[in-house]
Amino acid sequence: MAKSAEIIIDGKSYKFPIVEGSEGELGIDIGNLLEETGAVTLDFGYKNTGATKSAITFLDGDKGILRYRGYSIEELAAKSSFLEVSYLLIFGELPTQEQLKKFTNDIKNHTMVHEDIKKILDGFPSTSHPMGVLASLFCAQTAFYPESLDPNRSVEGVYLSIIRSLAKMPTFAAWAYKNAVGHPVNYPDNTLDYCSRFLKMMFALPAEHYEIDPVVADALDKLLILHADHEQNCSTSTVRIVGSSKASIYSSISAGINALWGPLHGGANQEVILMLEQIKKDGGDTDKWIAKAKDKNDPFRLMGFGHRVYKNFDPRAKIIKKAADDVLAKLGVNDPTLEIAMKLEEVALKDPYFVERRLYPNVDFYSGIIYRALGIPVDMFTVMFAMGRLPGWIAQWKELRENKEPIGRPRQIYTGKNLREYVPITKR
Ligand code: SDX
Repeated sequence: MAKSAEIIIDGKSYKFPIVEGSEGELGIDIGNLLEETGAVTLDFGYKNTGATKSAITFLDGDKGILRYRGYSIEELAAKSSFLEVSYLLIFGELPTQEQLKKFTNDIKNHTMVHEDIKKILDGFPSTSHPMGVLASLFCAQTAFYPESLDPNRSVEGVYLSIIRSLAKMPTFAAWAYKNAVGHPVNYPDNTLDYCSRFLKMMFALPAEHYEIDPVVADALDKLLILHADHEQNCSTSTVRIVGSSKASIYSSISAGINALWGPLHGGANQEVILMLEQIKKDGGDTDKWIAKAKDKNDPFRLMGFGHRVYKNFDPRAKIIKKAADDVLAKLGVNDPTLEIAMKLEEVALKDPYFVERRLYPNVDFYSGIIYRALGIPVDMFTVMFAMGRLPGWIAQWKELRENKEPIGRPRQIYTGKNLREYVPITKR
């Protein structure tokens, strides 16, 4: 017998079907709620609301599970590569050797950007935050590829937009950085792999030979895998709702980049390092700062802690924490903020305030420590997050469009003034 949920309003009973996901998740399908009952639901921040059905990523917040298309994040981070994971997320299956080779080469053939992009870049002062530059350059692709605006674009046309997005994101990211430091931009070196090509565009200087450190390139590839998708988070939901209006993939993802920028979301990785530096400068008294995080009258929050879904550990945080140890050791970097981060985690996880609210380190808590060890400047941390999340945004945008989902248009509960007569204040 199909499961259903019953709602009783003013003594009248209404039944709604319950849908079950492939991992046993239950959802009450309220698609006819307003029509049948005249009422809408109210759920600030959509904490209890499923916006769609998706086959891309599964996560279980209580068990600390994260899987891309059924593969565990632990296995993918340990054994796969960012481009292979990107293919998996976007097309649903791991690529064959041949498919991966073609995908990799297609991306290599599109890493260059139109020279006129430099004119846009030149308009940004060097004080511009790289996330704002990245969102603008990414959206500017709509100008250089106007055919991407066609909402009914062919499968081949959508594939080309996907390839261009993955190929040019690292170029845009590196150019945003060069703009911030006032250095000349570097063109992509297509003899290199995805991460090495990005690192060289980021750090190579005209007068010097730039040597790729395989430890750095490998660590970055792993970090991009760990950030690649995370079901219906804030920025992905933004990409979906913009895409639901049949806006282009470039404008939809540009909106996602802007949503990710916020300090409560992807911007947290930058805030974590600033917080750790502040605690270090203040003498490293972790108890004092834990107390501040608990104090309702103090706006300070323990950045990198807590999560809307993970009410146990964030599996990505566990992997990144171990990787931080490994990478710093391999690079011979001694970063005192790592010790402070580990002390904060140790103290917080024993404190009733954090335990009761089930607040654990999230993906952003340790990632900044690795980025800094790799030489990535703090202002670029969230740009790294965006580079990693790109295949997830693409996969979710593509799924929404293939499923022909309706335009997103939530309702509200109106709390404003009731009807009142207009009386002009002054005689005209
Ligand atoms: C990401 O959704 C995703 O999947 C996101 C992400 C992804 O991969 O896309 O995982 C990436 O965005 C990770 C989160 C990065 N943000 C931060 O680290 C910022 C610090 N964390 C918080 O601001 C907060 O935990 C959120 C935003 C992450 C989650 O907020 P919620 O789910 O809305 O929870 P809440 O703010 O309602 O907090 C519940 C309680 C509150 O206390 P009470 O009112 O019950 O007394 O927990 C407290 C909060 O004050 N709380 C914290 C806290 N986080 C929550 N208190 C101190 N420090 C914190 N970090």
